[in-house]
Amino acid sequence: MLGKIKELLEEISHLQAANAEEAEALRIKYLSKKGSINALMDEFRTVPAEMKKEVGMKINELKNSALEKINQLKDAAQTQQVAGDDVDLTRTPYPVPLGTRHPLTIVKNEIVDIFSRLGFTLAEGPEVEDDWHVYSSMNFADDHPARDMQDTFFVEAKPEIVLRSHTSSVQARVMETSQPPIRVICPGRVYRNEAISARAHCFFHQVEGLYIDKNVSFTDLKQILLLFAQEMFGPDTQIRLRPSYFPFTEPSAEMDISCHLCGGKGCSFCKHTGWVEILGCGMVDPAVLEANGIDSKQYTGYAFGMGVERITNLKYQVKDLRMFSENDKRFLQEFTAAN
Ligand code: DAH
Repeated sequence: MLGKIKELLEEISHLQAANAEEAEALRIKYLSKKGSINALMDEFRTVPAEMKKEVGMKINELKNSALEKINQLKDAAQTQQVAGDDVDLTRTPYPVPLGTRHPLTIVKNEIVDIFSRLGFTLAEGPEVEDDWHVYSSMNFADDHPARDMQDTFFVEAKPEIVLRSHTSSVQARVMETSQPPIRVICPGRVYRNEAISARAHCFFHQVEGLYIDKNVSFTDLKQILLLFAQEMFGPDTQIRLRPSYFPFTEPSAEMDISCHLCGGKGCSFCKHTGWVEILGCGMVDPAVLEANGIDSKQYTGYAFGMGVERITNLKYQVKDLRMFSENDKRFLQEFTAAN
């Protein structure tokens, strides 16, 4: 029996196969149920007990080398086939489908990038937030309508936990853990209980900015916003500030930019005014500084907040807000960016 095993081992070491079919035929011949190696097992029963161990090990060795050899032959046959005459190895490979960044991410990155170059650092906060950070610390009166169920998604009634309705909550998070100078830019998702339509959604994105130091003035705010507008929409962009009201800033303003579609002449996009609104801003109300542990006698600051969807619409004229969350690949593939 040992002699037969040795013979088979020798035979297997010289096996050749011209193609995959031949290699498969060899597998059947040696390794299938009815193959010659399995046939040895019948004989194995008649081997005297004291020889069983040695013979068993030899059969195993034979099985393994047959398996290895035949796999080698199969691999070689496959490589040969690929390299055969009918395959052009110089042909350009099929393109790997690459994903693109979401338009809102592209625009958010662009906004963050502009402010990073102006010395702002990134800060983020939780989307599930308590009432203090979203409203109370931001100087919202207890009966302010924004706290209403119609605007805010409540997660818990007591203590009040909400889905943040603006990224101004991150201002509070930053102020409570650091002292001026503070210069942060805070992008994030926000939620409001709105009926979904082309012009409103129950979630959207904002970028908040906050700068607190000694002697920060409204002029600084105006200058940084002008720089931002020109970086974002082109060097000829003009800005205008209109007085407004926010609980957390005093004075407050809304900023318009000259309509970049008509260059300020007036078109249907800017409703023939020549201007389009892009953000809210103002000087941080001293009450907000005090509520968050910053000495309002020493420090002043400015803040601003903008909607990423709004800026994206202005840049790319996306007419329907729902497009941003429908994951239609035809829409998403229209946007590509280097970063
Ligand atoms: N939080 C405001 C909103 O959601 C946006 C805003 C306005 C943020 C003025 C600010 C600001 O920081 O100063 O509508």
